[in-house]
Amino acid sequence: MSQQNETRRDFLKRASMAAIAFPFLISCKTNTLAQKTETELSLIKKNAMPSGTEARGAIDAPDDVSWKTALSKKSDKDEAMIISGTIFQPDGKTPAPNVLIYFYHTDSDGYYGRRGEVRDGHFRGWMLTGANSKYEFSSIKPAPYPNRTDAAHIHMTLTGKNFKEDSINAILFEGDKFITAQERNSVGKWGEVNPILKLEKGADGVLRGARDFKLWKV
Ligand SMILES: [Fe+2]
Repeated sequence: MSQQNETRRDFLKRASMAAIAFPFLISCKTNTLAQKTETELSLIKKNAMPSGTEARGAIDAPDDVSWKTALSKKSDKDEAMIISGTIFQPDGKTPAPNVLIYFYHTDSDGYYGRRGEVRDGHFRGWMLTGANSKYEFSSIKPAPYPNRTDAAHIHMTLTGKNFKEDSINAILFEGDKFITAQERNSVGKWGEVNPILKLEKGADGVLRGARDFKLWKV
């Protein structure tokens, strides 16, 4: 549940208690708040790439998108993983709020989907950065494609009110034998930080990694 929705829910709860005395006033305030929430996300989604293009996914973002999301585990053999980070403006220091993040990755066998799922499979999600521009998602660690030599990875796209959806360098994982010299030596597009993450396993058994990103435009 997003902070935005919690705030709205709390507001509605208070509003319903007061509605007996001020029904008209409460009705107006509720409508105004709803419109503001919808407009923020709908403005960003105008810059989403259409379905079928290479860098796309923002267009399917749900209305209750939050800065944080959790994908369910698929099976016991999957390794729980949490990725977090901060999206910065081009100066590399100033937070970048209202950036829509879309991500997707394979399952622990290297497949995106095998049972009539959408093209990007079960492991996909969305986040919208808040005032501090942070994001976090929990999922499972993906595996490389079966019978190929591509490193395991997580695809990500970013979309803003003033820039169109685009892919950023996929997250890779330190220790993956399929990481190429080109990938290892790359600092990425637009001077981003190295996208090869070193995952650390916590006392709770969950793998954690951090990946920040510097936008090319705000
Ligand atoms: Fe992929």
